[in-house]
Amino acid sequence: MARLSESGLPIEPVYGPAAQEGWDPATELGEPGRFPFTRGVYPTMYTGKPWTMRQYAGFGTAAESNGRYQQLIANGTMGLSVAFDLPTQMGYDSDAAIAHGEVGKVGVAIDSVEDMGVLFGGIPLGEVSTSMTINAPASLLLLLYQLVGEAQGVPSARLTGTIQNDVLKEYIARGTYIFPPKPSLRLIADIFRYCRAEIPRWNTISISGYHMAEAGATPAQEIAFTLANGIEYVRTALAAGMDVDDFAPRLSFFFVSRTTILEEVAKFRAARRIWARVMKEEFKAENPRSMMLRFHTQTAGVQLTAQQPEVNLVRVSIQALAAVLGGTQSLHTNSFDEAIALPTEKSARLALRTQQVLAYESDVTATVDPFAGSYVVERLTDEVEAAALELMARIEEMGGAVAGIERGYQKSEIERSAYQVALQTDSGERTVVGVNRFQLDEEEPYAPLRVDPAIERQQAERLAKLRADRDNAAVDRALSALRRAAETADENVLYPMKEALAARATVGETCDALRQVWGTYVPVDSF
Ligand code: 3HC
Repeated sequence: MARLSESGLPIEPVYGPAAQEGWDPATELGEPGRFPFTRGVYPTMYTGKPWTMRQYAGFGTAAESNGRYQQLIANGTMGLSVAFDLPTQMGYDSDAAIAHGEVGKVGVAIDSVEDMGVLFGGIPLGEVSTSMTINAPASLLLLLYQLVGEAQGVPSARLTGTIQNDVLKEYIARGTYIFPPKPSLRLIADIFRYCRAEIPRWNTISISGYHMAEAGATPAQEIAFTLANGIEYVRTALAAGMDVDDFAPRLSFFFVSRTTILEEVAKFRAARRIWARVMKEEFKAENPRSMMLRFHTQTAGVQLTAQQPEVNLVRVSIQALAAVLGGTQSLHTNSFDEAIALPTEKSARLALRTQQVLAYESDVTATVDPFAGSYVVERLTDEVEAAALELMARIEEMGGAVAGIERGYQKSEIERSAYQVALQTDSGERTVVGVNRFQLDEEEPYAPLRVDPAIERQQAERLAKLRADRDNAAVDRALSALRRAAETADENVLYPMKEALAARATVGETCDALRQVWGTYVPVDSF
């Protein structure tokens, strides 16, 4: 009896060299670094350069987060990855009533260009690549980063990094949206155009499957819904008059890696092949970099357990190995205590050490795409690809990702998958070590790190001082100019937005100016 994979595909007890009809390695696999990139986006992959060890971090004030970044750099991390608190992610200031209790909690509080300067104090922005997990207000945080770079004397053309900027998955799974789909997509097209002109090495979007997977999406759903969102973004930029090879090389992706290592490796390989063919065949891209699916991976947060938390070190190691065998460009390994609270300095260091053991002690960096030719992985790559293409075709029939979102399709499919996992876990059909099998009679106590609630007052005092010290007439003029641009379809809002932020308009004030013109999104009730 074949065991079913996470995507519901049978995994045979034994695979042989069953000849698949028309399966030709030359066209299905190709060479590493060559179309359709099944085996990896670069010819040498990790034999040329290891993946970027990029640990997601941020909490409390900009000063506290700066301290954690300095620790991570000292411990050998190779790229920064900023977590923002919910008020920042939702475009509210720390002293807004709606922000109470959330300031500095799930990430760092950023209200102004002054906070951004503190966040990157002592960190040379010309020498690091920085990812920022920010979506609806991604344009603001990008401009604040550029302003800090300018203050450090770094030419904007040298800045490298990524903004997540993927609002479609926020409507589906994560929830930090502000504006309705149409103005959100306009803003994303403005960012693509702005970065091409002003910050050409910046990755303009991180089209994410991670959060949909964390909400319950299967591997096939994860890549299907993510790539369908990607197609929507490409169509939006083309409709805004851009040429596909002008923006596609700077699109990037973000996926989860689960403990089910074989299917995860197959998932990554299938995603690269699907995207390469979509970009070449549907969008007629000519630049090979437009067809390369470059991605970041985070190990599966939902698979961490609060019970026997040290066991998570083993899970994260397996999940990290899956990402590396699958050819990730950048990797975040979760800390073993994250199911309980914010990672401590020690647990964050252990998470990074996990990657360093993989990169420098194991032999998985000695050769490209080690699973190539494996009976099971090649078969699973084909089958996950086929399942994903079927889901993408269904979304296409509805009119594309936004049409699907507006009828609640992706969200309800993910909820259905999540329900199945819950049933399997409750029945014991799905083993979760320490949770429904191999439990301890009594869990050992664990002292987690807590965020000091006093930071809310500190941020409110910083905002009061900023508003008292700045030229408020200049801020008002700049925000009026931003509103006028937002009302004008063919004006790029990032230029007046940068002027407002430079004049010390706050994140909340800037987003409020856009709310006044574009309104805010009211979610469809998917059931
Ligand atoms: N041969 C040749 N060149 C190579 C190479 C090789 N083997 N390996 C790397 N390179 C080059 C690349 O071409 C690139 O050069 P370029 O800048 O001129 O293009 C440079 O070296 C850097 O390599 P990558 O671009 O592959 O690696 P990066 O780490 O810089 O970028 C990325 C990776 C996926 C493209 C980028 O978008 C990225 O860093 N994404 C990170 C996203 C992220 O961290 N997200 C966190 C989200 S947290 C979250 O949302 C979860 C929370 O909600 C719970």
